[in-house]
Amino acid sequence: MTTEGLTVRPARTSDVATIRSVVAPLAEQRVLLDKEAVVYFESIQEFQVVQAPDGQIAGFGALHVMWEDLAEVRTLATAPAWRGHGVGHLLLDALIDRAVQLGVDRVFCLTFETEFFARHGFEVMADQSAVDPEVYSELLRSTDEGVAEFLDLARVKPNTLGNTRMILDLQSRVHP
Ligand SMILES: CC(C)(COP(=O)(O)OP(=O)(O)OC[C@H]1O[C@@H](n2cnc3c(N)ncnc32)[C@H](O)[C@@H]1OP(=O)(O)O)[C@@H](O)C(=O)NCCC(=O)NCCS
Repeated sequence: MTTEGLTVRPARTSDVATIRSVVAPLAEQRVLLDKEAVVYFESIQEFQVVQAPDGQIAGFGALHVMWEDLAEVRTLATAPAWRGHGVGHLLLDALIDRAVQLGVDRVFCLTFETEFFARHGFEVMADQSAVDPEVYSELLRSTDEGVAEFLDLARVKPNTLGNTRMILDLQSRVHP
């Protein structure tokens, strides 16, 4: 297997079935959040996929905007056969580029893969100081489960056990 010819492209509705089949076992292991099919279709414009030359989907990930200056990388996964070939880093680069295009300053993630995210400048969050109290109270109005996880609300705590909260500050990022 080679990474040559891999392309990153915006997801299409026809990718949802593959995305769900890769997420299902990860959701069972509580690595990713389980979501209904309709949620994927509704958020398909947030997703990027990595496609192999034969059309196979090697991986995918989404960028979800939370606030004027804040977005989250979510549902980032590489299909098991493609792990360790650079697909994840390709996707994370693309999602960070998208965050820059959208004008957000910070990108959040909740993950077990701390070293992987640290390679892109993500740092472990010490506390909730990423959002001020005013924004925190606005975010409480969201019905999105990922936002609830970001806020560390009691009702989603079982989903987040063992995960690490990380943040990337795009403004202080060192450009190569
Ligand atoms: C996290 C995850 C997306 C990483 O995907 P991946 O495609 O295996 O990641 P990569 O191949 O880009 O990088 C992983 C390792 O492979 C190796 N690697 C990277 N590029 C490579 C290449 N071109 N050739 C060979 N090995 C390579 C590196 O050792 C890299 O380690 P590093 O992260 O310490 O740099 C994947 O493990 C996954 O799907 N996990 C489950 C879901 C999850 O936890 N998502 C995160 C929270 S949303």
